[in-house]
Amino acid sequence: MRFSPSFLDEIRDRVPISSVIGGRVTWDRRKTNASRGDYWACCPFHGEKSPSFHCEDRKGRYHCFGCGVSGDHFRFLTELDGMSFPEAVERVAEMAGVPMPARDPEAEKREKVRASLTEVMDMAARFFQEQLQAQAGAAARAYLRDRGLTSATQQRFRLGYAPDSRNALKNFLAGKNVTVEQMEACGLLVHGEDIPVSYDRFRDRIMFPIEDARERVIAFGGRAMSPEVAAKYLNSNDTELFHKGEVLYNLARARKGQGRDGQVIAVEGYMDVIALAQAGIENAVAPLGTALTERQLELLWRMSAEPVLCFDGDQAGLKAAWRAADLALPAIAPGRSVRFALMPEGQDPDDLVKAGGADAFGRVLAEARPLAEMIWQRETAGGVFDTPERRADLEKRLRELAGRIRDESVRRHYGQDMRERVQAYFGSSRTEKRPWQENRPWQEAGPSGRGRAAHAAGRLAVSPSLARSALVRQSAGTMPLRETVILVSLVNHPGLIDENFDAVERLDFPHPDLKGLHGGLLDAVAHDAAATREAVVNWLARAGLGPAWEAAEALVRRARQWPALAEAARDDAREAFLQALHLHRSAGALHRELKAAEAALASEPTEENYRQLLEIQTQLRDAQATEALIDGFGVLSGRTARS
Ligand code: UTP
Ligand code: MN
Repeated sequence: MRFSPSFLDEIRDRVPISSVIGGRVTWDRRKTNASRGDYWACCPFHGEKSPSFHCEDRKGRYHCFGCGVSGDHFRFLTELDGMSFPEAVERVAEMAGVPMPARDPEAEKREKVRASLTEVMDMAARFFQEQLQAQAGAAARAYLRDRGLTSATQQRFRLGYAPDSRNALKNFLAGKNVTVEQMEACGLLVHGEDIPVSYDRFRDRIMFPIEDARERVIAFGGRAMSPEVAAKYLNSNDTELFHKGEVLYNLARARKGQGRDGQVIAVEGYMDVIALAQAGIENAVAPLGTALTERQLELLWRMSAEPVLCFDGDQAGLKAAWRAADLALPAIAPGRSVRFALMPEGQDPDDLVKAGGADAFGRVLAEARPLAEMIWQRETAGGVFDTPERRADLEKRLRELAGRIRDESVRRHYGQDMRERVQAYFGSSRTEKRPWQENRPWQEAGPSGRGRAAHAAGRLAVSPSLARSALVRQSAGTMPLRETVILVSLVNHPGLIDENFDAVERLDFPHPDLKGLHGGLLDAVAHDAAATREAVVNWLARAGLGPAWEAAEALVRRARQWPALAEAARDDAREAFLQALHLHRSAGALHRELKAAEAALASEPTEENYRQLLEIQTQLRDAQATEALIDGFGVLSGRTARS
């Protein structure tokens, strides 16, 4: 009998391949890493003394680097034990604890139809590929060349061209005895009651075959080459073979392209996936022109515990990211979440690798933010929380969000995380108003910096010794991170200099390198050489400040203060800058007051002066605590950063 692919997938997913193979080989203890599901043994298919037979539970495949055999659960049992395929299926189903499906003639017939439809789709894919090489495909070839796709890449992704004709494909398939009903069932023709003669759906478009998990073509995406055409991309309609919300473009190849870390990346478009693969990043997939669905998220989680979702760095991209966050939130579980990578404004991954190669994309990935951070940022972005009612409302929304998480223990941890963020955000109000709150920091400094602050709260538990370092010993040998963030964000986003010119001019840094950079920056402004980042960096280099600048930027990067970097969106950079500026000022002011109060008490030991000193010390302690909450500030300033 035929088994449905979904049944086979289900039992294969439930049974680790190592437990199918484990009965027939002895695992090599040295090379095996069982906790990762990564096993090695001497190959049972050929005689050998050192283990070159490898199997990986995550992929459900084995491969021998000695004799080249490879396969899945069923292949192993049929080839090594000589079982028939149904016997192998029965064995694995038994191990999975899943009953064998009853014989269903209807289902078998449907399966046959599906099989013949995938054959038709494959013929169509071949036809489009041939057309791309034919005379009719000249403009399409030029288009793909202009977009930088090598012919190896084009072949790998089976790219093709649908000629500008209403019946080229239809005639071709008819010549191969494919019926019109089959073509319609494949979604290759436009048909309907009011259309007397059905005709080719895809005309004059670059064709991207969409494959299922086993690399069978189940649909197409077609891109118009001319910007005048209304629909840039046209996708197959849903068919027996294709349900667009349940498929990820490039899934099968991405699964093979996963590195040892098992990472998978979801991007927005076909072109992004292909450009990344050409740049050597082979583990990317994309939904098909719709927002990510629950089913697609499940597919991602099958591949990786923490897939990275990439979005454009513009407003629309951020909205899409938030939508994905809402989708993922209820379904997260212990060790199972998502991260968010936001592209630099106006660029998609395709643009990014074209301009900066795989490294540029890698840097954006390295700065991917956790889900909790994304949620917090959305809830606080642009908000003004200057009354208890508003703060309570924020707290309520966060509680409600955490409450959506289905897993009990993750729900509890989220609740706690969000409470800690709120606390760190507003501080524990013992005094009416603390000096660093004079400017209502929650209005001008933004959520992302604070999100980090709060995030760190849980981990750091505000040890005073950590907190003290940046404030008290500000002029140690290495650059203090907070001040470095101020300068680096100004150089990377010179628009901030104009916006805050008075404050920037009055800055005073004890550290010699930072003092130098600050002077260089002001000179650049005075000489009209601060219109762009490049102009400022050039100016600094010419002033002999190149090494200081590079050290400053490297420190910020290591400390993962991404909003200060050039790739960050201007709004994020502004928030980071204002936040750091604010802390810098309050620290400076308090220190001057402390010195004055100590001097006053020494010369006049009155009750009044004593209370004054105590008060300032309390404020300073609070400020230090706030400081320690900022991820890395203080902790990293005097030492090498974690990376
Ligand atoms: P984008 O508009 O971001 O296009 O759409 P892109 O991927 O950068 O493509 P290029 O670089 O202009 O060629 C992202 C995805 O949204 C879907 C497609 O799946 C596309 O890959 N889309 C876009 C459509 O389905 N229809 C459209 O008209 C546009
Ligand atoms: Mn693009």
